Amino acid sequence: MRLPLFFLMASLTACGSASAPDTARADAGNLTSAKAAPVKSAAPAKGQPPLAFVQCGTCHQTKPGQNGIGPSLAGVYGAKAGHVGDFAYSAPMRASGLIWDEATLDKFITNPRAQVPGTRMSYAGLRDEGQRAEIIAYLKTL
Ligand code: HEC
Repeated sequence: MRLPLFFLMASLTACGSASAPDTARADAGNLTSAKAAPVKSAAPAKGQPPLAFVQCGTCHQTKPGQNGIGPSLAGVYGAKAGHVGDFAYSAPMRASGLIWDEATLDKFITNPRAQVPGTRMSYAGLRDEGQRAEIIAYLKTL
């Protein structure tokens, strides 16, 4: 009994990360397959996150002060890039000078690295315009 347990713990430690919960990491790794799924955008109930936001939720919380792998998205709409004071943003994000409105968010979510080269947001981008619009509409409510 001792040996298998040891192996299990050893492999968990080996895969573990100092900065991120293992589950969040695993989910983030699945983004490509989640994106490929033919998700039809159904209008979410008021205040509810749209289905596509699940992808963002692996790294972002929506309550103020709750940072994950990414900063809390509370109050992000209309704010300046790097709006969470105690989050360790990348230098390019801090220096971008962007204000998060519909245009800048749409461009960023489409391809984060194209808009902010060197960003730490390791997310490939969301090609579906309708899903981006739903996410941005939701961000406005946070
Ligand atoms: C793999 C983790 C991850 C995923 C998935 C992710 N983000 Fe991020 N996000 C980050 C990180 C890390 C940063 C900080 C980037 C930097 O400092 O360069 C960030 C930054 C941001 C910012 C800028 C915040 C600010 O305070 O200026 C916005 C807006 C944002 N993300 C929105 C989204 C949206 C919307 C999605 C889903 C479509 C998403 N993110 C998916 C990790 C992620």
